[in-house]
Amino acid sequence: MNGSDNATIFERAARGRPVPHTPIWIMRQAGRYLPEYRKLRREVDFITATRTPEIAARITLQPMERFAMDASILFSDIMTPLDPMGVEVKFAPGPVLSHPVRTPEAARAVRALVPEEGVPFVLEAIRAVRAELRPEAALIGFAGAPFTLFCYLVEGGGSKDFMTARSFLRREPEASRALLHTLGRSMARYLVAQAEAGANAVMLFDSWIGLLGPDTYMRFIHPVLTRAFAAVRAATDRPIIYFPNRGGPLLRSMRGLDVDVVAIDWTLPLSKADRLLGGGRALQGNLDPAELFGRPDALRRAADAVLAEAEGLAGHIFSLGHGIDRRTDPDQVARLVDHVHERGRTGAD
Ligand code: CP3
Repeated sequence: MNGSDNATIFERAARGRPVPHTPIWIMRQAGRYLPEYRKLRREVDFITATRTPEIAARITLQPMERFAMDASILFSDIMTPLDPMGVEVKFAPGPVLSHPVRTPEAARAVRALVPEEGVPFVLEAIRAVRAELRPEAALIGFAGAPFTLFCYLVEGGGSKDFMTARSFLRREPEASRALLHTLGRSMARYLVAQAEAGANAVMLFDSWIGLLGPDTYMRFIHPVLTRAFAAVRAATDRPIIYFPNRGGPLLRSMRGLDVDVVAIDWTLPLSKADRLLGGGRALQGNLDPAELFGRPDALRRAADAVLAEAEGLAGHIFSLGHGIDRRTDPDQVARLVDHVHERGRTGAD
């Protein structure tokens, strides 16, 4: 499906075209808050699950069987394509590197990704999902953004401030630029390969970009992102989504990025994010995942507040401002999806 009228509601909203209701999906919807996921994970470890197309496809479809979501997201991880780039990653449960990148030589040794050779199982999982998914539901392919991957590569694992990675950027600016460029080029190819395999939209997760100030963002990251999005744009007509987590102070600098949708975390009202971005673009978001722990009526009021904020946007895809917490009651997700569909009716076809 493409830009024509048989495009999914999700794709139409992403392009700012009329939709019969506000589409909804939930960041991290395939995962540990679902009992059926936890059951399956007792039999198979996380890495095996991501590398086995039938299992990855089954997990991707789990939330689609339970809820009336308008989009599914491929079960995989932002760290999955790093192995064929020469970077060994384990999960505990967050990513842990056996050999963090701490020298210019190590930064330059990271190889560019050739998706068809390095991660054929991801492309196969996409084809398997697309064959089984309802045709009116979209499938989102994704990758980690260059700076977020850089953070994990240099730090070697999760961190609250990624000080090792942020100091490496200043200590070794040339090697850092080379690594960021390799990551940007590789993730652009990876998103294109996922679109070609059948993903209806592609999303770049920049979980840690909010750690940078606008000057550092403009100097080191903006050129890499600009080039990566241009490469994706030139190779596919699928909508492109960018998620600059906690990126409020950077949104003004991000105005020129050639993406269809910007996903907004919950710390910024959608109308304000729209003004900072200069308007004219669809936004995704941005319910605080903690709202799913409120009483049903409070949850519905919080969802209504997001829908009210979205009035007047060029387009809106309802989602959480970040990933769903693993302690969330799945019945609350069902309530949220049904409520957004009910309230988000627009009267358009
Ligand atoms: O529904 C989905 O979104 C499933 C696909 C998905 C996963 N990770 C599965 C996963 C996606 C899109 C991601 C993205 C991801 N991974 C990001 C970007 C989004 C964000 O949350 O900011 C990041 C930073 C990672 C790195 C990562 N992988 C972390 C920090 C963790 C551990 C913490 C956690 O949330 O569980 C992982 C492991 C991981 N990735 C799990 C899942 C379902 C848990 C693994 C398990 O079953 O034990």
